[in-house]
Amino acid sequence: MSNLSKNRYTITSALPYANGPLHIGHLAGAYIPGDIFVRFLRLKNKDVVYVCGSDEHGAAITIKAKKEGVTPKEIIDKYNKQIKDSFEEFGISFDIYHRTSEPIHHELSQEFFLNLYEKGEFIEKFSEQYYDEEFQQFLADRYITGTCPHCQSEGAYGDQCEKCGTSLSPTDLINPKSTLSGKTPILKATKHWYLPLDKYQPWLEKWLIEGKKDVLKSNVFGQCQSWLKSGLQPRSMTRDLDWGVDVPLAEAEGKKLYVWLDAPIGYISATKQWALDTGKNWEHYWKKQSKEADDSTLIHFIGKDNIVFHCIIFPAILHAHGDYILPENVPANEFLNLEGDKLSTSRNHAVWLHEYLQDFPNKQDELRYVLTSILPETSDSEFTWKDFQARVNNELVAILGNFVNRVMVLSHKYFAGEVAFGTDYNASDIAVFEELAKFPALIEQSIGNYRFREALSLFMNAARLGNKYLADEEPWKLIKEDELRVKTVLNVATQIVANLAILAQPFLPKSSNVLFEMLNLPKQGWEQAGKSDIVATGHQLGAVQLLFDKITDEQVDFQLQKLADAKAKNVKATAVAAPAKENISFDDFMKLDIRVGTIIEAEKVAKTKKLLKLKIDTGIDQRTVVSGIAEFFAPADILGKQVSILVNLEPREIKGIQSQGMILMAEDADGRLDFVCPTTAITAGSTVR
Ligand code: MF3
Ligand code: ZN
Repeated sequence: MSNLSKNRYTITSALPYANGPLHIGHLAGAYIPGDIFVRFLRLKNKDVVYVCGSDEHGAAITIKAKKEGVTPKEIIDKYNKQIKDSFEEFGISFDIYHRTSEPIHHELSQEFFLNLYEKGEFIEKFSEQYYDEEFQQFLADRYITGTCPHCQSEGAYGDQCEKCGTSLSPTDLINPKSTLSGKTPILKATKHWYLPLDKYQPWLEKWLIEGKKDVLKSNVFGQCQSWLKSGLQPRSMTRDLDWGVDVPLAEAEGKKLYVWLDAPIGYISATKQWALDTGKNWEHYWKKQSKEADDSTLIHFIGKDNIVFHCIIFPAILHAHGDYILPENVPANEFLNLEGDKLSTSRNHAVWLHEYLQDFPNKQDELRYVLTSILPETSDSEFTWKDFQARVNNELVAILGNFVNRVMVLSHKYFAGEVAFGTDYNASDIAVFEELAKFPALIEQSIGNYRFREALSLFMNAARLGNKYLADEEPWKLIKEDELRVKTVLNVATQIVANLAILAQPFLPKSSNVLFEMLNLPKQGWEQAGKSDIVATGHQLGAVQLLFDKITDEQVDFQLQKLADAKAKNVKATAVAAPAKENISFDDFMKLDIRVGTIIEAEKVAKTKKLLKLKIDTGIDQRTVVSGIAEFFAPADILGKQVSILVNLEPREIKGIQSQGMILMAEDADGRLDFVCPTTAITAGSTVR
């Protein structure tokens, strides 16, 4: 439990890029774990600051702006607001949600850069870098994609392969392509300032590999080890971009700081702003104190694609600076999948937080509960709507909600909501109290070791204990013969409810508030948890409230349909047109005799699904054509319609009918058909060329 033994904590959750809305993968990666941890620290009366904010620089932003045809500023303003609002409504309890576009952040980032520059830490280097001639721009990071040299997957970015997590340089990519023009870039010389990560390698090996072997989660430690094993390279801390923090050097005019230099400094600038707002001293949370024991404990909550930046690059920067504390731990999570597929912003395969909050008003704790139950703590995990429904209905409703509801309803029914006391506690009461008393330390240990799934299931075991106690004691039967005993049973049950109210706080904050309201008690701290006398005899309970209700099949179906619609739309949007056929001569083309004709009769061909028998007035004659359009057009709807018809096609027999010609149809990638027809009435028999 050593990591909960300190007094002061600086907790960060990854700064989300302000280039799109949040989804459940973000929540499960960096925000729910961070929020549970912080709420727990606060319950333990620790001095804690929890910071986050929008990451508003880098190619993630400018590429999105280009795609939407607006300025980067419009993008960050739009998404910063949306992200901030949904975090707030969802109940992630940051002390501040800041932005890296704020002047205080630009100043601090430049200060950091200059500090390292003046110490001579950077290597200045001219090098050949990829350049898009059409767009006249150097191609760093996400402006360039190609095949990952490590895992061979396509679409790896110039700074990182998101498939295998490896940190890359643009020149590592196989078959590089500009994301601006799609073309193969040329090489062009430019000057940049490099952080000599190779120089810090021995220090990193000592601090990280030796020092944190027993501290880091195994998935995190493994990644760190493999990077160090393959040998660190100097990494450029500047970019040729027109969006970001200016490099504070006269000779670097027009260049910007690398986003992964400025973004983590955003944790510090956010803390600075928070301290200004609240009269605190930010240095207590970031700078080494005169005595090591007074240093704050820094913990970064992130997703696995951010590990290299938080375990290697940012610590190296902090180390090179010298005045700052280093992270105690980086409990990164793996990825969350959705309905058997990777979450994807671009394919719109996601559960968006702002949409969830709209579709399920007041059900924040339900999503927190389910996501906490399936956090990808040690390996990737999967969210499905059926599982969401099952966990809410069978666990939150059937166990926790049901127990609390029975205690409340019976107390009101039998004793007008007064917490009574009858006969003395008997052996089974005492056994229940003994069990109950074990939970706080167990939960504390799980949370302290970043095992939030385990902590939550312990909490549910406490609710199960209550349910079992009621089922064993059966106060609803006992009431007829032994009212005094029922008083004691409901007293015991009420103490369990009070314990649940305390223990729920890190996991289910809204429900915890409702529990305290029902108990008619002020919030209690963690030191009260485990006790058997939280609610005094004679205390008057509040009104019964519903904690949770069931998720219906309709709600599940609606969400599944939404995902299916997104998928269908996506297939259409990304379908590539078939390549062109071989060239033909003009003479060949002129052999086709295509006319405008009018449909004058139409009927289904019996015993077929797709065929219509049409009579067409071609201007030359009236002829019969069999056409495979019955799935898309009803006979009655196409009478009188003008169409294009190939009239000199060899007649064919189809289902026993002589078909004389072919109606021209357009067909999309999904096989949907439509007529190729004139837009105004034109004489039948007119030629089409
Ligand atoms: N914006 C980054 C991402 O979404 C995370 C930045 S974390 C910070 O992957 F450390 F740079 F702030
Ligand atoms: Zn890879």
